[in-house]
Amino acid sequence: QALYLADYTPPAWLVDRVELTFRLHPSATRVVSRIAFRPNPETANRRFFLHGEDLTLISAAIDGTPVTPDITPEGLVCDVPDSPFTWEAEVEIAPEGNTALEGLYMSNGMYCTQCEAEGFRKITYYPDRPDVMAPFRVRIESDLPVLLSNGNPVGQGEGWAEWDDPWPKPAYLFALVAGELVATSDTFTTCEGRKVELNIWVRPADQGKADYALDSLIRSMRWDEEFYGRAYDLDVFNIVAVDDFNMGAMENKGLNIFNSRYVLASPETATDRDYENIERIIAHEYFHNWTGNRITCRDWFQLCLKEGLTVFRDQQFAGDARSHAVKRIEDVITLRARQFREDNGPLAHPVRPESYTEINNFYTATVYEKGAELIGMLRRLVGPEGYDKALTLYFDRHDGQAATIEDWLKVFEDATGRDLSQFSRWYSQAGTPRLKVTDDFKDGTYTLNVEQQTPPTPGQPEKAPQVIPLAVGLLSPNGDEVVPTTVLEVTEAAQSFRFDGLGARPIPSLLRGFSAPVILERDTNAEERAFLLAHDTDPFNKWEAGRALARDVLVAMVTQGAAPAPAYLDALAAMVRDEALDPAFRALALGLPGEDQLAEDLHARGITPDPLAIHTARERLKSAVATHLCPLWVPLYDQMTCPGPYSPGAADAGRRALRLAALAHMARLDQGTKARAHFAQANNMTDELGALSILIEIGAGEEELDRFAKRWGKDRLVMDKWFALQTSLAAPDRAVSRTSSLTEHPDFHWKNPNRFRAVIGGFTMNAAGFHDPSGAGYDLVADWLIRLDAVNPQTAARMSTAFETWTRYDADRQARMRAALERIAGRDGLSRDMGEMVGRLLAAG
Ligand code: ARG
Ligand code: ZN
Repeated sequence: QALYLADYTPPAWLVDRVELTFRLHPSATRVVSRIAFRPNPETANRRFFLHGEDLTLISAAIDGTPVTPDITPEGLVCDVPDSPFTWEAEVEIAPEGNTALEGLYMSNGMYCTQCEAEGFRKITYYPDRPDVMAPFRVRIESDLPVLLSNGNPVGQGEGWAEWDDPWPKPAYLFALVAGELVATSDTFTTCEGRKVELNIWVRPADQGKADYALDSLIRSMRWDEEFYGRAYDLDVFNIVAVDDFNMGAMENKGLNIFNSRYVLASPETATDRDYENIERIIAHEYFHNWTGNRITCRDWFQLCLKEGLTVFRDQQFAGDARSHAVKRIEDVITLRARQFREDNGPLAHPVRPESYTEINNFYTATVYEKGAELIGMLRRLVGPEGYDKALTLYFDRHDGQAATIEDWLKVFEDATGRDLSQFSRWYSQAGTPRLKVTDDFKDGTYTLNVEQQTPPTPGQPEKAPQVIPLAVGLLSPNGDEVVPTTVLEVTEAAQSFRFDGLGARPIPSLLRGFSAPVILERDTNAEERAFLLAHDTDPFNKWEAGRALARDVLVAMVTQGAAPAPAYLDALAAMVRDEALDPAFRALALGLPGEDQLAEDLHARGITPDPLAIHTARERLKSAVATHLCPLWVPLYDQMTCPGPYSPGAADAGRRALRLAALAHMARLDQGTKARAHFAQANNMTDELGALSILIEIGAGEEELDRFAKRWGKDRLVMDKWFALQTSLAAPDRAVSRTSSLTEHPDFHWKNPNRFRAVIGGFTMNAAGFHDPSGAGYDLVADWLIRLDAVNPQTAARMSTAFETWTRYDADRQARMRAALERIAGRDGLSRDMGEMVGRLLAAG
């Protein structure tokens, strides 16, 4: 039942117009459809198939004459004329019982939809594929006060409302919302002079928490006009916050639907990170209006066409709004933690996959984040002007179409004259390329020798060389930059690059700005890293040098029981003291590589990682840093206050982050005294939660946890944090029992995806707890995945990635993880989503 990119065929029938009427009822909603079909002139195929799942067909007619189609679990087929006709049908669905949160479902008494990728077929019979685009008109009948759908409002009265969306769109962009909602509103006048009404709809209890989302939306609209020349194209833009949602948010045309955690914020309840996420995701969904909606994907294999580009655009926006250097470092931290992890395990797949069983399993870090890296590389290779020209051509040429990656690359070729046939391998080859670099210096000539190699991934034993933009700079031994950033284009398996006329052997700064999503391998030493940490002009590489030092120290601590290297501690001290550096940067530089990252590094060096040893070494290093830099913390803590009212902007957020980093180290020296006071005095969630996690990390904080729960017990989003903190930060020997007891908590509403992710997902991030040698962590997660899979396959399958690193570990752990996966695989009624995931995971063994 796998589908292949190579098997694409165009749709037999095209749709000219869709009219839908919804008579909403929790257990018996009626959906009446009227759809104008016409034969697709591009194909001779005339088979009439409509997708449809879990629908009760009440009636169907063609051009007014009743018909009796053949119905299967996937849809229906029907004899039809071979000329244009009108299809009419009425179906019944039960949104109340829809726990999968796909199609039309209910969340706290409100109706909402999620159609991407293939949820529309749970609403009515339709050719549910992205290359069938049509204008929609929607009538909603319900007693609920707010009734929303895509497009512009065209009429409303007692118990009904009508919406018209003039822009042809695929069914996955359909949306409907009905409920008791209140709006935070504003208007925006586009550069084309269109006055747009903006509304962010939330439940009455959440009123007042949408201001930041609204502000982010306005800034996104302005930014897209300024930097991409893209203006909004409807009279209203609605956003709705929903508590039960499988993912972050959805870009439905003119009616974005958001997980409430990415809309609602107040200083008391949201952290700086939450604000940052809201800004980014609001921008992301808004940017989809052009990259995704006006130009959509021909089929789901092309998902990265819209997602990679839109992530790249939201990263650019966030860099402009905050700090490019800090943003790049944060993006690379996530890329490595999620995408490299995926790319180096059994779930590795190309940015454009060639086959899938369940497309929902491919909304991955590879499609999104690596997809965005490919756009960044393209931009670097053709230059900013070439990129702008190509994008202009893309919008001109493909507006209103369902496009492919070939179309995308072609606009770059046509706009810039560059041949991208080798570049296109980035889309088809999975795996993280390794770049091995050695160097020579002789008679003033410095040579970099570069070899590239990509390890095998499932189904792809061999890889051809890719085009790798390698940004480098050279520093002289006294710290001056003798060669500023230059982009070398690595295209061969092995290649050398020469720099002439140098007075002394330079120190190379390689892969500046993380110019390609590769793993750089180079024999170097702590002195060189400390030198780059002190002198590199490239902020990413300056951070990277510190990170590499920390990683080497940790690896030596784990494998040889070594003491933390003084070179690292001294370099860190100098960096922390450097007031010329942005506080946000210093906070990042004080962070250590995560436990999972270290496990991957050890595994890459041929060492079987021991999660407990890694955890212990990391804790020891934190304490050593605390002690070694002892005199710095209190002054830093006192210096990094933020006078004035709370502002979520980058400057204050950076100061709070650095202040909390200081506090975390102080807590290791004063048993948490200062952190307790900080918690008690906090007047914003960043400080409150920050202090609480510091206490939990040093094994204290039980009393504060109780106080926190008493204070916030009624706030779902804040309580998610309370749950997640405990499962993700519990000490290794207590994580399993803490997590199981939290699953008994009366507020563990496990059918709510946010709560499930907080408790079970939080636990899976607790590497040492999850990998408890008894296997109890694996069993706990497997039990819950089995349970959730029966009600919500999408969220359950997504979390099975907790096991994607299973082949890294020792034989005993591997056997236990395999047993857990086999137990899941053996369940009757396993979803297609979960079936595919465990199948791919087990195939690695
Ligand atoms: N297109 C949405 C976004 O990027 C995400 C939709 C996820 N859908 C899914 N089936 N997992 O914001
Ligand atoms: Zn997206």
